[in-house]
Amino acid sequence: MRHWRGKAIGLAAAMLLALTMGLAGEVAAQGMRPAPGQEPGDYMREIGNTRVDANNVGVWRQVRQGVQGYASIPDARAGTLVQPEGERWRALYNGPLKQWGGYALGAMIAILAVFFLVRGRIRIHAGPSGRTILRFDALDRFAHWLTAVSFILLALSGLNITFGRYVLLPLLGPSAFATLTMWGKVMHNYVGFAFIAGIVLMLVLWVKDNIPEGHDLTWIAMGGGLLGGSAHPPSRKFNAGQKLIFWSVILGGGAISYTGLGLMFPVGWFGTQDLQLSVLVHAGTAIGLITIVIAHIYIGTMGMEGAFDAMGTGYVDENWAREHHGIWVQETLGEPAPPSGHGQAKHA
Ligand code: HEM
Repeated sequence: MRHWRGKAIGLAAAMLLALTMGLAGEVAAQGMRPAPGQEPGDYMREIGNTRVDANNVGVWRQVRQGVQGYASIPDARAGTLVQPEGERWRALYNGPLKQWGGYALGAMIAILAVFFLVRGRIRIHAGPSGRTILRFDALDRFAHWLTAVSFILLALSGLNITFGRYVLLPLLGPSAFATLTMWGKVMHNYVGFAFIAGIVLMLVLWVKDNIPEGHDLTWIAMGGGLLGGSAHPPSRKFNAGQKLIFWSVILGGGAISYTGLGLMFPVGWFGTQDLQLSVLVHAGTAIGLITIVIAHIYIGTMGMEGAFDAMGTGYVDENWAREHHGIWVQETLGEPAPPSGHGQAKHA
């Protein structure tokens, strides 16, 4: 008997609770719905002769806009229940950043494909001489490949964080994609330090050859000789295009490294960084640099005959060097400058 009574009381309590919750839900829904003849944005309700904000819609709207209240604990920020920058950040990151980043990467690949189809591989006009000249010693090449390998690993794992859910998730399925992304992120955190070491070493070794000079303007005016023709624009060790790549890697890589360290150590790294801004700068600069580096990798491999050797063995063919870095060859071999100056190589 007692057992039966207990069950009945429990059931009645549950029904009462359900009824109360249902009613509360219905009241809230009524409150959100415009009453007949009421403007859609108007949340005020007529109760008797008074118009009242029955569901505190106005208050919650202000909370969503970041209005700060009062908190008696030491952290005054606790008075802000909803931080609206988060909404703006999400809209920027998932909107323009991903959209324009995707366009930039796609456009660069398309431009290089068209360039390759129209211009073909840039050949050594005079043909290989058979004589070689040392361009990068072992330390130079170590700095380059430390930076390059770490950058490529960071780029792939970073692009997966930004675009993977659209590209790899449908191909791999949730389980494999989650495992790959998790380990990719762990790797990203560690390899970042190798990249930082690489750009610092590159800066120390190559900054002296990357200071802008007067003849860089001639190189730019001649389009770097990339569009064809027989004249090769003047250049010392690095031409204007390479200087642009060097400074993009140093400054862009520096910004990516600074914000990356801030994201890894949010408290205490040069004070406390704005993490939302850091993510935008980190991802935006990284996508920009990846776009530039794609062009660099193209020229260093299939785009130009004889270029890869510079970072492979360290030695390049003398004719290649005369055509692309005329002044550097004369200075390295101790040759007198030609009367026309500029160290331009010309071929019929
Ligand atoms: C498979 C990938 C890559 C290849 C085949 C490659 C190839 C080369 C070659 C051949 C050079 C020497 C050019 C010369 O003799 O004048 C060079 C230079 C350079 N590389 Fe790379 N590279 C690669 C990836 C990267 C990456 C990922 C970065 C940086 C993020 C990078 C940064 C540089 C810089 C700053 C220089 C000096 C400036 C210049 O020549 O543009 N490289 N690379």
